[in-house]
Amino acid sequence: MFENISNHLFNSEELKTVEKHISKYPTKMSAIMPVLWMVQEKEGWISTDNMKYVGQLLELPYEHVMGVATFYTMYFKKPVGKYHLQICTNVSCMLCGGTELFKYVSDKLGIKNKEVTSDGIFSIEEVECLGSCGTAPMLQVNNKEYYENLTLPQVDELISKFRSEASKN
Ligand code: FES
Repeated sequence: MFENISNHLFNSEELKTVEKHISKYPTKMSAIMPVLWMVQEKEGWISTDNMKYVGQLLELPYEHVMGVATFYTMYFKKPVGKYHLQICTNVSCMLCGGTELFKYVSDKLGIKNKEVTSDGIFSIEEVECLGSCGTAPMLQVNNKEYYENLTLPQVDELISKFRSEASKN
């Protein structure tokens, strides 16, 4: 299916998985989210070149792929830390201290929004609602784990825990 596309990133097994994703939908373009996810799982983030590559695979203009990748905060558009902390500051979280939480973590780690600490362990990102409004304020780690009803001492503990885990690996 992809004979005319330079094999930029995916190996033949991964291209089969791309084909499988495409086969689930009526049009190729609908497979964009799982294919972008595959890129991120492989590379850790999604570069402009890889957005163009996904565009070639799915016969979509780069601008379309970029539009999807930049709309969703689950896709990282630049390299992130080993622990990427996404802190929600949308309405419920903001009312329950999400903005203070973000500032606290930013000050504690010495990095601003979308920056990575010099040791590569942490990055932070301010995000829109993650659907956990009833347990605000909250943060999500590496697109997987939710930490809810957070207090500042709990965040201190969490950061220490991650730091100690990172030092063991
Ligand atoms: S407002 Fe923060 S999870 Fe919804």
